[in-house]
Parts: sequence; C-alpha cells; structure tokens
Amino acid sequence: MGCCPECKEWDSLVENTISTHRDSSKIHTGTHLAQLTSLESIDVKEQPRVLSGIGEWDRVVGGGLVPGSLIVITGDPGIGKSTLLLQVAYEIARTKRVFYFSTEESLQQLKGRATRLKTTDNNLLFSDAAELTSIVTTAQQEKPDLVVIDSIQNCYINDAHTLPGSVGQLREAAFQLMRLSKEHNITVIITGHITKEGIIAGPKTLEHMVDAVFYLQGEDRWQTRMLRAVKNRFGAINELGFFCMEQNGLQEVPNINAHLISEISHAPGSAIISIMEGSRPILLELQALTNASKLAMPQRVVSGLDHKQVILIAAILEKYVKIKLSMQDIFFKVSGGFKIKGSESDLGTAFALLSSYFQEPLPEKSIALGEISLTGQIKPINNIGHLIKEAEKFGITTLLIAKNQTIEKTSCTVKRFHNVYELLSLFGQ
Ligand code: TYD
Ligand code: MG
Repeated sequence: MGCCPECKEWDSLVENTISTHRDSSKIHTGTHLAQLTSLESIDVKEQPRVLSGIGEWDRVVGGGLVPGSLIVITGDPGIGKSTLLLQVAYEIARTKRVFYFSTEESLQQLKGRATRLKTTDNNLLFSDAAELTSIVTTAQQEKPDLVVIDSIQNCYINDAHTLPGSVGQLREAAFQLMRLSKEHNITVIITGHITKEGIIAGPKTLEHMVDAVFYLQGEDRWQTRMLRAVKNRFGAINELGFFCMEQNGLQEVPNINAHLISEISHAPGSAIISIMEGSRPILLELQALTNASKLAMPQRVVSGLDHKQVILIAAILEKYVKIKLSMQDIFFKVSGGFKIKGSESDLGTAFALLSSYFQEPLPEKSIALGEISLTGQIKPINNIGHLIKEAEKFGITTLLIAKNQTIEKTSCTVKRFHNVYELLSLFGQ
C-alpha cells in the first residue's frame, strides 16, 4: 500500500516481520545465566581519545573520537559528508589503522576525490564492499582502530529476513555495527542520508542506537558548512564546527565571527546580536524590513527565527511604543542562514524592527543583548561576559543592554534601557 489509509501519508508504511517461533505468552527458561558484578570490581581503562588534528572536527566530537564508539554523520546529499570523512580518515590514518568502506561510490570515484583532496599518500585502506557481514567480518579479523562506512543506507545484509534499504535492515545493520564497535573496541563512523523532512532516513532509527549523531549542515554563502552535535554520549551537544567547502575539500573556519562580521552592513533595519552556540559566542546580524501594507492581513515573512517571536516583539512595540506595526508588512531574517531559538535575540529584534520602521540605522558597531518581557521591560541575559568579550574582539564599540544587567568593566560605550519606550531615544524620537 503506497498511502497509509489512516494518516494519508505516502510511503510511510514499514514492513515488520513477526517471528512465529516463540509463544510470547509464556516465560521461557534456559540454562544460560547472565553474569552479575558490582561496579567496584569493574576495571576502567582510561583510553586516550583519537585526535585527527582537524580542530573543528575534534572539538565537535567532544575532544577526539572515543575508541569503541559508533557515530553517525548525516546531512543533505552533496553537503560534504564523504569529503569530511575522507579527510578525517586520512588524518587519523597517519597514526592508526583505518578502513574506509565506500558503499556508494566506486573506488575510481573515491580515488578522484582523494586526488582532489591530496589524500592519496598514506596507508588508509579502501573497499567498495557493501555487504554488511563481509564488512563486519573483515573488521573483526583485521581489528583496525577506525572503520568508516559511507553510507549505511547502501549496505545490505544477505541472509536477513528484511528487505535491503528497509527500516528493519537499517536497524539490524546498526545493531551489528554496535556489537562490532563495543566488542572489538573499534570506532565505527557511518554516514546516513537525511530525508526531505530533515530526519535521518529510517525514522530516527539510527539516532537511538548509536553513541553520537552529527549533522553537517550548509550555508549558501561562502560555502560554509556547520557540523553540529545533536547527540553525543561522550561530549557536549550543540557544539558547532565550521568549515568552508573549497576546491581542495573542507577547510576549517576556526574564526567564524570574523567571517560573519565582515558581511554586516551598517544600514537601517540591521541589528547585531550575539548568542552562545555550544561553548562559543557567535555574532549575528538580524535584518528587518517594514513597509506600509496594502493587504487587509499584512504579511509576516520570517526566516531563521520562530515567526511567533517576531510577531510578539512587534506586538509589544505596538502596545508600548505606539507605532502601527500591525499595518505594516514585516520581513525578517537572520543573516548567514543561521537558525536561532530562545529569547536572547529579543532586544536585537526590537531594534531591527524600529530601525527599519524609522529608516534610521543603529549606532555603528553596536550590539544588542537583552530579552524583552510581555510588559515591555528590557531584561538581562545570562552569560553576557563571554558575549561581550567576543564582540569587543571583533570591533564592537557600543553595548545596548538592559538597565539592570551587571557587566564587567568594558572599553565599550554602554547604553542601558529600562523599557521598550526608551529604545526610541536612539532614533531621535
Ligand atoms: P560529498 O562529500 O560527495 O557530499 P555527500 O557525501 O554529503 O553527499 O560532497 C560533494 C560536493 O562537494 C560536490 O558538490 C562537490 C563539492 N566538493 C568541493 O567543492 N571541493 C572538493 O574538494 C570536493 C571533494 C567536493
Ligand atoms: Mg557521499
């Protein structure tokens, strides 16, 4: 059946084979007993993490790969998963034994890529085997330190009861690889495709079974790629790594803020904010465009931010500043294709809207750091010390913050605001 008769989704049905051998209504007893131990008697060997020397990768995976872990890298087709993994595998192969199983591309294609990346000259070993049992057996016998499988969806299991490419088979493959990594202490990295809906194909099956999941996401501008940890049993999540896709592969961009700030224009409708992404502050530009609307229901087009958040700030401004934003079309975006959550961007959002409405730019090199309450009060934010330090590094000279925000000594000009009405003072109102 192509279409589910219940929810009307296409292609959402999944085959589930039910084993008929066992009677599940009875408790089965056997002779094999599970072994029990106390934690005290367990010997923990602290194993050093495996560093690749690619700083952004090492940081996002939590300070190097943990031996014996199973990791998924996922992202849109063509985003650079194979490129990144080939580079990482090449670097790690300088000191460790690494096997690279390419189930999607032929060895000729791989060589072409490796030539482009100039990663042909070491003892990284390749195979185009796609049958899972042969991959697992090879790894079991040869005991490499790292196995890369690109991609898991193209692996198949010969004598499985499930169809190649089905969710059942994916689950079985992941299970076998999990056993391989844990029992033989081999780090296994697999790539997984992402579907239109933005989930790893095979309804999140993989995410639950593995130790860590990383998404490689793209930015249109400057070919920027973000590597984001969404699950990591061995490190912090929400850590971001930045790369740039160039002629010879993915290059690290350790200094993303320099990139971002160089793109920012000083114009009406633009406000700079800063938010924490994982352990590092990121400078972002919010852009607003407000225009008298000719429609009965003015448009609200928002990207990079929850549109309700922008509507909320517009409503607060309308109520307490008495400007008729409800008669205006509002277009709003976060530059660089970033997506932000939470309310740390409130003050910046209000400034961007006001600045576009009055067609007056904000003070040059200023940054807005604050939340706004429903009553129109400007509220302090957490972690502001980090944000300010980073902003100063990139030439910010004016801080726009809440009246009762405590900050350390700074070389910037500080402008404080108690409520949204006071924001007008920056626009000569
Ligand atoms: P790829 O790693 O094959 O993506 P994925 O495995 O996620 O599907 O990346 C392919 C894209 O990257 C392709 O559009 C070409 C581009 N690319 C470069 O720009 N420079 C390079 O050095 C390489 C190897 C690829
Ligand atoms: Mg690929």
